[in-house]
Amino acid sequence: MRKEILENLNGYETVTGEIAAAQKYGTDYTAEKGVVADYVRRLHPDRLTLRVSRIIDETPSTKTLRLTASNTPLPPFLAGQYVALYLEIDGIRTARPYSISSAPNQTGYYDLTVRRVDNGLVSNHLLDAVAVGDLLESSGPAGQFYHNPIIHGRTMICIAGGSGITPIMSMIREIVDRGLDRHVVLFYGNRSLKDAIFHEELLDIAQGCDRIDYVPVVEQPGDDYSGQCGYITATAIQQRVGDIADKTFFACGPQAMYDFCFPELEKLGVPRRRIRREMYGAPTQIWQHPGWPGSVGPQDRFTVTVAEDGTTFEAEAGQPLLVAMEKAGRPAPSLCRCGECSLCRVKIVSGHVFQPPGVMVRASDRQFGYVHACMSYPIEDLTILW
Ligand SMILES: Cc1cc2nc3c(=O)[nH]c(=O)nc-3n(C[C@H](O)[C@H](O)[C@H](O)COP(=O)(O)OP(=O)(O)OC[C@H]3O[C@@H](n4cnc5c(N)ncnc54)[C@H](O)[C@@H]3O)c2cc1C
Ligand code: FES
Repeated sequence: MRKEILENLNGYETVTGEIAAAQKYGTDYTAEKGVVADYVRRLHPDRLTLRVSRIIDETPSTKTLRLTASNTPLPPFLAGQYVALYLEIDGIRTARPYSISSAPNQTGYYDLTVRRVDNGLVSNHLLDAVAVGDLLESSGPAGQFYHNPIIHGRTMICIAGGSGITPIMSMIREIVDRGLDRHVVLFYGNRSLKDAIFHEELLDIAQGCDRIDYVPVVEQPGDDYSGQCGYITATAIQQRVGDIADKTFFACGPQAMYDFCFPELEKLGVPRRRIRREMYGAPTQIWQHPGWPGSVGPQDRFTVTVAEDGTTFEAEAGQPLLVAMEKAGRPAPSLCRCGECSLCRVKIVSGHVFQPPGVMVRASDRQFGYVHACMSYPIEDLTILW
């Protein structure tokens, strides 16, 4: 900027005076800047190297990986947040987010509790191939699924399904460990009681702490089970919770759980703004979503051309574009893999993708043809740019 323009700016003289004084008396603003930047990097690192210090069997299909810092202290996180693990498996560089299930007051480790997904690339690798002592690379903690005492009030009604218990477990552990003045009613749905992760610990917590109320709900109860059966219904919630006014709902689980439970909450008159929902990955069986083009089958393959260099690769309609990019060795950066963080934005130069209803895309991105590759499914040949 030209000097005469700068001189007319408000505060110009003050700033130049301060710079002159700093030069004269030796204050090193450059060094100060370095200290602040270093502090910010430690609180919000892009990448962490974590060591697997312990592996805990939770259920037949679930293990907890206890991860300690290998080179720098672990950055703090809010109960409910996740880290993304970055891995290379069978030559494919990919990432998956996992909620931290330990409490934030446990500053020495992050627990990630992983449930096996049939044919799942990363969950099977973590459960079968990772051993104590291995190093894993992760993002820093991220995500919006946490309790804010100013906005969300004192009472949390939590609805969890399967591995969706993990962020809520972190919240409950923190409440108990820190003696926070918060009341939780947890409805936790599973196929059977043996699938319920942390079941024994939750029973113990609920017995010892009158602010935590634990309601297991199972689809296939055994003969000796006398608790809540079936699904998490409006009636079950009302019976346990009573008046829902001023209570905030936290839901985390598979899409099928949201599809069933949200209409139940609507029956109770719970306003949408009172429901906090963790996006728990890209939808499965996308071809069954309303609006999916009937002429496209999940296994149909399309050609994706990279506008930058004209190279091409194949993509399957039933899988997110991001997965095809990773399989082709052309990964876009990713963190949440559920349309939230915008890191995997790509521009669709030509062709069309299917995006599930409700996927968040900024208005400006939509205007200029950008989509989230993690939540976009190819339904034509594409040309893309990122
Ligand atoms: C914010 C966030 C937090 C998460 N926290 C946890 C956690 O704490 N613990 C945990 O176990 N998982 C968690 N997940 C899910 C996790 O990121 C992976 O999606 C999951 O481990 C499956 O990855 P995969 O590579 O094994 O399966 P993929 O190879 O990605 O998928 C294989 C097949 O299974 C389907 N599929 C993918 N995910 C699921 C699923 N969850 N249920 C059923 N079918 C599925 C896919 O559509 C595909 O057909 C979280 C996801 C998000 C977005
Ligand atoms: S990885 Fe976050 S929006 Fe796609």
